[in-house]
Amino acid sequence: FSSYRIRLYGNGYLRRDPVSLIQLRTGIEDPYPLYERIRAKGRMVRTAMNGMVTVDHRISDQILRSRSYSAATKEAKEAGLSLLSMDPPDHTRLREVIAGDFTARRIADYRPLIASVVAKLIKDLPRDEPFDLISTFAAPLPVAVITELFGIPDADADEFVRHGTEFGSAIGGIQSLAHARRLLATRERLAEILDKVIQQRRREPVDDMMSRIANADGQVRSDELMPLCTLLLIAGFQTTVNLIGNTVLALLSNPGQRELLADHPDLAGQAVEECLRYDAPVQRSARLTTTAVEIGGTQVPAGETIVIGIGGANRDPAVFADADNFDITRPNAKDHLSFSGGAHYCIGAPLARLEATEAVREIMTAAPDLRIAGPLERQPGGLVRGLRRFPVAAA
Ligand code: HEM
Repeated sequence: FSSYRIRLYGNGYLRRDPVSLIQLRTGIEDPYPLYERIRAKGRMVRTAMNGMVTVDHRISDQILRSRSYSAATKEAKEAGLSLLSMDPPDHTRLREVIAGDFTARRIADYRPLIASVVAKLIKDLPRDEPFDLISTFAAPLPVAVITELFGIPDADADEFVRHGTEFGSAIGGIQSLAHARRLLATRERLAEILDKVIQQRRREPVDDMMSRIANADGQVRSDELMPLCTLLLIAGFQTTVNLIGNTVLALLSNPGQRELLADHPDLAGQAVEECLRYDAPVQRSARLTTTAVEIGGTQVPAGETIVIGIGGANRDPAVFADADNFDITRPNAKDHLSFSGGAHYCIGAPLARLEATEAVREIMTAAPDLRIAGPLERQPGGLVRGLRRFPVAAA
């Protein structure tokens, strides 16, 4: 399947594993030793496939913030994920359309919805038998929030969730031909559901994100509309779920930290922040050099792809003391690069933090004896890091 491609939107398609070139695939269970091997080789390392990779925090941060690099790498353009593969001025123009909907103030409006969804999910957790933490708790929360953010009417919500979940699974890699076929059917149905909302918001605009996207004539070209919605959908369905899952896993694997949180539930936000650093849900990004540059003592020609190993940069010993330790009181946890940096800094960061903090605090309080109750199953691929199945028992 390595050369198998699936067309998604317009000229975009997702490939099974865009950065197999640095063997990140081999690191699915535990990519961190691989990052240390890269670190031991240097601050900027040439890969077997003629690209560059860095797990150096300072260099990664500098590249992400610099305007001299392009985000339009081959992989990003092929994935067709809108903003992620765009550069100014188009990137700036499109990002402005939705930026106002993701400010911390605006996102705080979702707190009651998040609290009520978390409370309901916890109330419905099986008490007497093991359950999968991902499908019964970590996934339904972000899915409910993104459904609300997209303004999907109740009548279409179940179908939207079903197709959105299927579609989001593409980011972990195409599993089989049957999976590829399902993705195509799913894409069409999602486009129909989204188009219905867009048409409705054109007729009767209200004060919400979809009204702004639907009525941003002159600021959003018609061919940019669906890729933008798709990016938000994938981001909403595939990232926060892993932040919740990874944080709970780190806590269950570190009893001392778990006890600390049990005694001080207000540390939940810091536990989430430390998990972002310790086990990032998105493990890498990439940029393209636009001119020849010297970086980290290495000459890099124009047109070279530099892979930024976010998960590795987050464990750079030059920035984080005892970087392999999960420590929810770490003073500089927030210096992680898990939401990227610069112009492409994750627009959903306030939402992801709010959802994960509420979810982690409430589940760890409601199920103080939560324990792992079966073999863990990881998401495929090296880009997204998280669990596909996380069997736990509450008592
Ligand atoms: C961009 C991670 C949640 C929407 C990014 C990038 C990263 C990231 C690393 C930048 C990639 C790059 O620089 O190449 C995460 C993580 C999340 C999360 C780890 C959760 C734990 C969300 C959510 C949303 C969202 C909930 C929206 C509902 C976006 C968008 C961009 C983005 C629209 C593109 C920004 C741009 O290119 O200007 N995210 N994200 N993210 N994220 Fe997130």
